[in-house]
Amino acid sequence: LNVGDSQILALQLTKQGGERVRALAAASPFVKLLSIESSLEEFERKALQIRPQVLLVEYDPENRGLIDLLERLRISVSGSAVVALSNSKEPEHIIRAVRLGVREYLAEEPDSIQAFKEAILRIRMPTQVSEEPKGRLFGVIGSKGGVGTSHLAINLAWAFSQVMGQRVALVDLDMSGGNEAFLLDLEPKRDWTDVAQNFERLDAVLLDSLLLEVAPGFRLLAAPDDPVEAEEVRPNHVGAALDFLARSHAFVVIDLGSGLDDLNLVAIDRCEQMLMVLEPTVVGLKAAARLVSLSQRLGHEKERIRPLVNRADSRGSILPREVEAVLNREVVAWLPNQYPALAEAANIGRPVLSIDSKCKWSKAVMELATKLANETGESG
Ligand SMILES: Nc1ncnc2c1ncn2[C@@H]1O[C@H](COP(=O)(O)OP(=O)(O)O)[C@@H](O)[C@H]1O
Ligand SMILES: [Mg+2]
Repeated sequence: LNVGDSQILALQLTKQGGERVRALAAASPFVKLLSIESSLEEFERKALQIRPQVLLVEYDPENRGLIDLLERLRISVSGSAVVALSNSKEPEHIIRAVRLGVREYLAEEPDSIQAFKEAILRIRMPTQVSEEPKGRLFGVIGSKGGVGTSHLAINLAWAFSQVMGQRVALVDLDMSGGNEAFLLDLEPKRDWTDVAQNFERLDAVLLDSLLLEVAPGFRLLAAPDDPVEAEEVRPNHVGAALDFLARSHAFVVIDLGSGLDDLNLVAIDRCEQMLMVLEPTVVGLKAAARLVSLSQRLGHEKERIRPLVNRADSRGSILPREVEAVLNREVVAWLPNQYPALAEAANIGRPVLSIDSKCKWSKAVMELATKLANETGESG
């Protein structure tokens, strides 16, 4: 697993190239620009000495010295990924770069910052399957339907992957009305029923092929469109699939829907913790208390369920201390009411964090994601 920032050593051939490098590095999370060299020799010396994850070079296909250098580096620092910043989209220039071992070729992208960030994410997160299920599993469950469970799950997955640069699987286990794919504007050709139908030969590679890419390092295992089809999915399918996902992802975020059933109980059993979403109303609190007591009867540790209040500032809300007293637990986050931003996100099929990272709801979700990521993951 790749924790921490990706170290970048850069090479500029021109002043503009250097400025381009600086602008890209400054705008990207999870990267650390070590230095920008303008001499080929100095760049090569540092590359050999530091062996950074990324070598970012201003690329000029006509520069013989640079071409020779890339040829050498390809062997001498084979562990570093070369990202080429070019001005040319000429096919022969691109092919030449590929033959020189360039991993990512960026030229005249409409949104160069986004293109750079995605390139870094692809480099940071190769598909790797470990022996142990090392990934951290977080469940998100609604005390009842319609409280914001799905939006929260999507945005947590986005924060872990696109802001923190970790490999993340989002799992839609809400078989009755699963809508993560819809909220992400995807029309899944593969979903949980494929896991069920191929269960006999399921392995990490097959499971990988059933995930849909939302963004680099962020993939979704979708719920079936049709609840009847979902009946094929059995608890042992869920258990096995989650175990595979935890071996190839740093974080697995599971939309558990609302209520408990034989499928999400298997997932809950594997979750480090469950974020229980509730609305601060009498009815909402009552539903949450019921879920807490159900979880107690199932013998879960108290820390396993962490209440989270959504639309916390709605009119007529129940007071924070009352919520905590009734549930006998600390509330892990208070998310504000944010009608236009959430509705827009659903309409255009993108996470709220990706379209309005500055709104209060996004900030509160980001703060929660940071808190969860910084906890060790040993408890629960
Ligand atoms: N904090 C919020 N502010 C405003 N609207 C919200 C908020 N959270 C959720 N919603 C709205 O509530 C509805 C249900 O959200 P969703 O995430 O699908 O809930 P669930 O998965 O619990 O059914 C959506 O229309 C969404 O826009
Ligand atoms: Mg939902």
